[in-house]
Amino acid sequence: MRAKARVAVRIAGNNVAAQRFRAAALYAGVPLELDIHPSARVSGRIVIQLWGWGNTPIRLRIGEGAIVEPGVVFRLTDGADVTIGPLSLIRRGVVLNASGTLTLVRQNMISWYSTIHCAGSVVLGDQTGLSEQATIVDSTHYRTTPDKYGYENTLISHVAIGDRCWIAAKAAVLHGVEIGDDVVVAAGSVVTKNLPVGVLAGGIPARVLAENYSGAPGS
Ligand SMILES: CC(C)(COP(=O)(O)OP(=O)(O)OC[C@H]1O[C@@H](n2cnc3c(N)ncnc32)[C@H](O)[C@@H]1OP(=O)(O)O)[C@@H](O)C(=O)NCCC(=O)NCCS
Repeated sequence: MRAKARVAVRIAGNNVAAQRFRAAALYAGVPLELDIHPSARVSGRIVIQLWGWGNTPIRLRIGEGAIVEPGVVFRLTDGADVTIGPLSLIRRGVVLNASGTLTLVRQNMISWYSTIHCAGSVVLGDQTGLSEQATIVDSTHYRTTPDKYGYENTLISHVAIGDRCWIAAKAAVLHGVEIGDDVVVAAGSVVTKNLPVGVLAGGIPARVLAENYSGAPGS
């Protein structure tokens, strides 16, 4: 009986989330292609902000067994193509700000109050996770003339992070960066350049601190 009750609550949560996404899309006047796997658990108490200026749809897929906690912010603009892969966990307070292609491949844990800005493309590989308050951003702003609000000048790039990486708390990965598999980025670091496979990187700007790094005691 208890298992049945849990299933009912999960489906209800997914339905509320789906209905709220559809209502937000209607309000914004943007086509929405939504696919939430029945085994995913998406809170009905997420924050949904959809924007549209054209006819390009917003696409959102939430995969098998994924969990999206209450308070997660979906700020999606037309053209956004977002995949939250199977078994991923999106914790409370995370902000997904996308107008590009954001792919969380599989089993990605995005911890509390992290932010992903995706204007072009962002990929997080299999089992790659972010600790709390990490930032991934694939664009930057620049100033031109005094009458032009610099925030409107955006240079869009991409970010690709490999499999089994760990981006520790409050670290930032900036536009144009590619990170190999099995990399650890230490807490508070700012990654401005590509990192090869298997390293520990840290500092501002992040430098390679150790190669063939596993983090295992005594390694
Ligand atoms: C990644 C981490 C676990 C590495 O720990 P570690 O393997 O014990 O590494 P060490 O402490 O031996 O440090 C190795 C080198 O990196 C440096 N380093 C470690 N953390 C650093 C950081 N955040 N920024 C800059 N340099 C750092 C050390 O000073 C040391 O340099 P040295 O060899 O010149 O002395 C740790 O740096 C970290 O970020 N911890 C925070 C984890 C976190 O965010 N948890 C949130 C919940 S999941």
